Amino acid sequence: MFDLENKKAFITGGSSGIGRAIAELFIANGARVVIADIVDATAIADQIGAHYLPCNVADETSVANALAGAEDALNGKLDIVVLNAGVGDIGPTFEQTDQALIEKITSINQWGVLYGLKYAPEHLNDGGAIIATSSMASKLSMPGSGVYSAAKAAVNSMVSMAAMELGQRGIRVNSVCPGYVDTALGNSPEERRTTQMLTALARHADPAEDIAPVFLFLGSDASRYITGQAISVDGGMHSGYSGALLQLVTGSNGAPGGH
Ligand SMILES: NC(=O)c1ccc[n+]([C@@H]2O[C@H](COP(=O)([O-])OP(=O)(O)OC[C@H]3O[C@@H](n4cnc5c(N)ncnc54)[C@H](O)[C@@H]3O)[C@@H](O)[C@H]2O)c1
Repeated sequence: MFDLENKKAFITGGSSGIGRAIAELFIANGARVVIADIVDATAIADQIGAHYLPCNVADETSVANALAGAEDALNGKLDIVVLNAGVGDIGPTFEQTDQALIEKITSINQWGVLYGLKYAPEHLNDGGAIIATSSMASKLSMPGSGVYSAAKAAVNSMVSMAAMELGQRGIRVNSVCPGYVDTALGNSPEERRTTQMLTALARHADPAEDIAPVFLFLGSDASRYITGQAISVDGGMHSGYSGALLQLVTGSNGAPGGH
């Protein structure tokens, strides 16, 4: 049921990190893949056996052109569209956030997905799948990540809306909400310490081993009755307080008091 043989997939931000891991896993499971990215990924595409198309997800026309180009490059309508491109700039508090940061995060992380949801359906086969990369930040508030978190929460909202709009064509729409992942965007020492202390599994996520397989599941028939969901893949980060955190706060790794 996880087989993607003869499936055609389009992945934004497919040249690095999570997107590249998804592209490689999809190809390994039989899919033909177009990676669309703002950076020139011709060499990476050649290396992994994909096609590359330039795309700036913050630009509506660029997204429309890339999706049309993918249909041409793969000789037919698509089966899976992964709206993954994003930037991770975490700003200061709302009070201190400047307009340039708001526009950058919102136009790429939020409108980029909106444009994908707007133009992907005409290029998708009935029964296809759209998967957006959201974030555990969409569900968990941490001071300073307000603009990023709001954009990712909007992704979850748009995904559940699109699921309702496209369900009659059998097109499923879901988002994946990773915790911190070992990519250029999420591998600072502070982020590693955070996952060690705050996740139930007490470790960082690996893009290929921990995150990409969930996209394979959501793109395949194994998830054929799942739609409109924002699926956390965060090592248990937003499920509760880790033992390591409680140890730090109370000196004991169990719940304090008589609960
Ligand atoms: N790494 C993490 O800890 C983490 C956690 C939660 C969610 N995410 C999300 O995962 C997604 C992928 O990030 P990643 O961790 O693989 O980081 P990454 O920086 O390795 O990959 C991001 C990709 O998006 C591309 N990109 C950036 N702006 C673009 C634009 N305007 N148009 C087209 N492509 C663009 C980049 O060139 C790059 O290939 C993002 O949406 C990010 O918000 C990452």
